[in-house]
Amino acid sequence: MGFERTFVMLKPDAVARGLIGEIVGRIERKGLTIAAMRMEMLSRETAESHYAEHRGKPFFDGLVEFVCSGPVVLMVVEGFSAISVTRRLAGKTAGAEADPGTIRGDLALSNRYNLIHASDSPESAEREIGRFFGGAEFFGAPRERLRWIYDAAERRSPGGGGGHE
Ligand code: CMP
Repeated sequence: MGFERTFVMLKPDAVARGLIGEIVGRIERKGLTIAAMRMEMLSRETAESHYAEHRGKPFFDGLVEFVCSGPVVLMVVEGFSAISVTRRLAGKTAGAEADPGTIRGDLALSNRYNLIHASDSPESAEREIGRFFGGAEFFGAPRERLRWIYDAAERRSPGGGGGHE
């Protein structure tokens, strides 16, 4: 909780389906800030280390092939409770089971082609941001915008919108 940064990847299905704007729009409309963003083709090595915890699972090879099959959008998203909020915006992994109102629930049906990856914990967020954005500059939201997203007391509280006062 508190002010956090999380790592988000829009997968090749999101890019191929023309859903970058739709998904980024949902993240921004919630009040979170895109603090860094770029587009690239993942190398097999990078994809395998990003998904290392799934190595050995039946879907691992197909997953790595899929995320390397086209360009992805890499982002750092920041704001109050950014890690859990972004996970809830994404919805459950399996598109067919994800709740309506979520990105996957509204836009996906597949287990694999589920449009978005978002860090699942502060430890994952730190590791994944470091992997993809080590040394990068992050751009916080202008204070005038945050004024309408966080109450002044929240912005003053430890961690609450910290770094923006
Ligand atoms: P993500 O949140 O990026 O984390 C692991 C990814 O593996 C997941 O999204 C899906 O893209 C993929 N995945 C998870 N479960 C399955 C499955 N049963 N079959 C195929 N792909 C899966």
